[in-house]
Amino acid sequence: MHLSKKCSFFKVVLVALLIVALLQLFYLSFLSKFHGKQQRYRYSELFGGTGKKNAHTEKNSRKEHMRYSLSTGGMFDSSGQYRVYRNLIKSDFTSNQALGSEGRSNVLTLCTHTTINNLYHLESLVQRWQNPLSVAIFAHGQDVKFATALVYALSFFCPQIQALVDFHLVCLSGEYASFPEHDREHLSGLEDCASVFSRLETHRDKYKNYAIHGNVSYPNNLLRNVARSGTEASYVLVIDVDMAPSTDLHPQFLAMIARRPPAGDEVFVLPAFEIRHVRKLPASKPELVQLYQVGEVRPFYEELCPRCQAPTNYSQWVNNHARDAGPLDVAYTLAWVDPWEPFYIGPSAVPLYDEAFKQYGFNRISQACELHVAGYRFSVLTSAFVVHRGFKVQGEFHAKKDEENKHNRVLFRNFKAALKTKYLSSNRHC
Ligand SMILES: *[C@@H]1O[C@H](CO)[C@@H](O)[C@H](O)[C@H]1NC(C)=O
Ligand SMILES: *[C@@H]1O[C@H](CO)[C@@H](O)[C@H](O)[C@H]1NC(C)=O
Repeated sequence: MHLSKKCSFFKVVLVALLIVALLQLFYLSFLSKFHGKQQRYRYSELFGGTGKKNAHTEKNSRKEHMRYSLSTGGMFDSSGQYRVYRNLIKSDFTSNQALGSEGRSNVLTLCTHTTINNLYHLESLVQRWQNPLSVAIFAHGQDVKFATALVYALSFFCPQIQALVDFHLVCLSGEYASFPEHDREHLSGLEDCASVFSRLETHRDKYKNYAIHGNVSYPNNLLRNVARSGTEASYVLVIDVDMAPSTDLHPQFLAMIARRPPAGDEVFVLPAFEIRHVRKLPASKPELVQLYQVGEVRPFYEELCPRCQAPTNYSQWVNNHARDAGPLDVAYTLAWVDPWEPFYIGPSAVPLYDEAFKQYGFNRISQACELHVAGYRFSVLTSAFVVHRGFKVQGEFHAKKDEENKHNRVLFRNFKAALKTKYLSSNRHC
């Protein structure tokens, strides 16, 4: 009897242990199911048709807009070689303007262009600029799908991008972009803005910049024009995606033109610099000048084409401290000289870029030269600037650079000849 009592005691302990183990298992399976549900929820929130949540109707309308814009098949560029999806995604800023609601009026938009491999720069560019941007992306082959999915994810997860960035997509005319409906490959695991940017960085590290290394030409001037025509701002600043303007440029510029209405034939030059890769980008002119004096910052393209920026007159600009502390203003006004290719804020009416120029060489200078012939003058701003991330050095460029440059030199000669007939009454030439 004593024995059987002991036995039943063991039984009870065993059963209790079993129950605990079962509960544990049940709990674990519940947890993993719950996690899976969360993942699925994220995914269906992104791409499923019928979100239960009313709060997402706005996001659904963005999705519908994108679906529609893709279903149109875009438009060919004038050469017929490229397919352009304009306003694939509209920012809240642009959408509100279209509705004519009491949004801010659009005075100055930053326009830029990039391959999908360099799109990760957008994160810091948006942070620095904090105002409307118009971004033209070139993708081809497999990347068309990736670009479409990631652009959508960016505008879905990143509030600042949602608020400010209009996206345009350009691919080869034989290619189509489509809505990333069931594209789990590219979209699974994305759950917030940071995860989208880290996906972009992983992509950059994994793939070479085909547009430069491959046999597909990067249509930089077409992209610049697409970004420019994608905004209704009265003024545009066109820069490359791996550059950044000085902080507060947008409000300072608006204050300046309110105080000092610009002439119609005036553009505002931002002296261009490049900074050693590891360095943090300077925010203000005093910060920039400090780095300049110790050689951590230097004129843009100083090693490869010093003459291309020298007309900006860096020594005059750097040493002109007198008005740096005051409100933004014009420091001095210059006439264009060959081969100056300044970055500038200009009225939306400045001539477009010639889309025949692709890849390396003469793509911006041809436009600066046209500005000159068309009668524009170049006013250099007192304390605003742009900085390029990294020193441009000989040897980092792709093998075909010199060949492209030679090809574009011929285009440039023809371009200059054509300007003579386009501006018959102008006594300027370049
Ligand atoms: C690039 O080269 C590959 C392989 O030679 C070829 O299949 C492809 O059609 C080329 N693309 C273009 C746009 O010429
Ligand atoms: C730059 O400006 C200074 C001061 O006005 C002038 O003396 C100098 O000649 C200018 N340099 C160039 C390259 O224009």
